[in-house]
Amino acid sequence: MNMKKLGAAGLLVAGALLVIAFRGSEADVGTDPELHVYKSPTCGCCSLWVDHMIEAGFKVSVEDVTNEVLREVKMRHGIPLELSSCHTTVAGDYAIEGHVPASVVKRFLEEAPEVRGIAVPGMPTGSPGMEGPNPRPYAVIAFDGKGNRTVYEEVDPRR
Ligand code: CU
Ligand code: CU
Repeated sequence: MNMKKLGAAGLLVAGALLVIAFRGSEADVGTDPELHVYKSPTCGCCSLWVDHMIEAGFKVSVEDVTNEVLREVKMRHGIPLELSSCHTTVAGDYAIEGHVPASVVKRFLEEAPEVRGIAVPGMPTGSPGMEGPNPRPYAVIAFDGKGNRTVYEEVDPRR
């Protein structure tokens, strides 16, 4: 192969990479929907979690609701009672319950598994928005609408 041909081949490769890069950014729009957060107006840890998600690059809209409406939202989006936490987030067709780390939400939306959503039950110390002394490991649980649960990711905030 002479140098002229090599140059043309290089250009072709660069062009192909550009197309891939462009497709990649297009796909990201689809897997990165805006997050809509339902929370109590007085919930401080909820607001800290929202800050955490915005810092990670998510578009977030927040809706302050009464506790009664929040309960309805959780029921409507299929959040099992035993997996519930403070705030509830809707992302496309998915529900994200509680203090799920942004990195896990990103992976979840990219993988788009066939579940209803993911949850960090309760409010474990050391989860985003719940920083404090004595952080402890916790699990992000995936749930479907039929009562199935799987551990989606184990998180150890001490690492
Ligand atoms: Cu909280
Ligand atoms: Cu919250």
